[in-house]
Amino acid sequence: MDRAPSGGEVSLKTSHSSLAGRLAQLAQLGATEAGIDRRLFSAADARARELFVQWARGSHYAVEQDRAGNVFARRAGRRDGAAVLSGSHLDTVPTGGAYDGAYGAVAALCALEELDAAGITTEHPVEAVAWAGEEGSRFPLGCLGSGAFAGLNDLAAIDALSDEDGVTFAAARAAANGLLAGVPVRDGFPAPAGYVELHIEQGPVLERCGVRLGNVTAIAGQARFEVEVHGEAGHAGTVPMELRRDALGAAAMLVLELEVAALAIGEAVLTVGRLVVFPNQTNVIPGRVALRVDARSVDEARLTALRTAVEECSARVAAARGVRIETVLIEERRPVAMEPRLRTAVAAAIAELGERAIDLPSGAGHDAMCVAAVAPVAMIFVPSAGGRSHVGNEYTAPEDLQLGVAALTRSIAAIDRLLSKDR
Ligand code: GLV
Ligand code: MN
Ligand code: MN
Repeated sequence: MDRAPSGGEVSLKTSHSSLAGRLAQLAQLGATEAGIDRRLFSAADARARELFVQWARGSHYAVEQDRAGNVFARRAGRRDGAAVLSGSHLDTVPTGGAYDGAYGAVAALCALEELDAAGITTEHPVEAVAWAGEEGSRFPLGCLGSGAFAGLNDLAAIDALSDEDGVTFAAARAAANGLLAGVPVRDGFPAPAGYVELHIEQGPVLERCGVRLGNVTAIAGQARFEVEVHGEAGHAGTVPMELRRDALGAAAMLVLELEVAALAIGEAVLTVGRLVVFPNQTNVIPGRVALRVDARSVDEARLTALRTAVEECSARVAAARGVRIETVLIEERRPVAMEPRLRTAVAAAIAELGERAIDLPSGAGHDAMCVAAVAPVAMIFVPSAGGRSHVGNEYTAPEDLQLGVAALTRSIAAIDRLLSKDR
């Protein structure tokens, strides 16, 4: 873990090729024309978790998985017990990039190897984790693995969730691409001593500021709704305009009203990114539309206002358009502040590298927001080119990826020292 020449490459003892090579291997799994599609318990996702296990075992770490599908690689410390944990997720959105999630999981493994190479013995064991199903792209729950791990989502309720083909989580977990063969399943979800997650920023702030590292202050809370608009299907040629109850017309009005409401609330974002029209035929008036709303803010009061807006706008549009609108809150995660002492440890670790970091909030959700329910957490960001993410051409420069691993390694060591004082 050498000091970085200012603005240049930081030299890692082990991870140069393993970091880039591993990310390149993962990028092949689920690759499509539009990006990477690696949904939880797909063949590509199973292969990604197998590679994580293979790399960890290659470096002689003990590997376990839990019943939510999370995979852990453990490097022993002086004492046994709760670990300092680091990692991220291996699943992607259906058109994802090569770095969202994968970088943090691989980087955590590289950080364990860096500790080995530097001859550092930690007090706590240090674990790298590959979280299951952070994106919520297969089962309708984001941060699925870390939510179960932190006890925020009951495993029995997760087991009952169905994907779009009606396959339940429990069935997918038991199928060929579910839990990995030959990897011990640990009992329960033992809480870590502390957690630090490295991730690409997924926004433009670091790049615009010309800074290569971010020390995250807080993660925005989220509320996700499933909304169904029930109108009346009919013949596109025969029903006069004034007699229609067109569900898509009402849904369109709702989308625009929600946009106006979010703008009025301020420092908040709201997205309708999924919309399914029934029967979706050119010559049939839409009878039903299902849509999902994703609302976020780092401010709890604004998040509450967004939730209220979804209910109020739905009621208003239903009355105006003569349709029925049902809203169901399918997921809620509160805004989470990073733990001040861990943030200070991260800042000191970055300063040791001779690098500058800025403090910034995260609009994207991360597994850290769940782990925060059971342990102190911190997060480190590296820049995303053009702020792009959740798209196939996500990109972070290799030297920034390496710098992130160096910052993570030092942060893990600093957090281990800090938490050892508490024991
Ligand atoms: C996950 O990437 C999210 O923020 O939705
Ligand atoms: Mn992510
Ligand atoms: Mn993501």
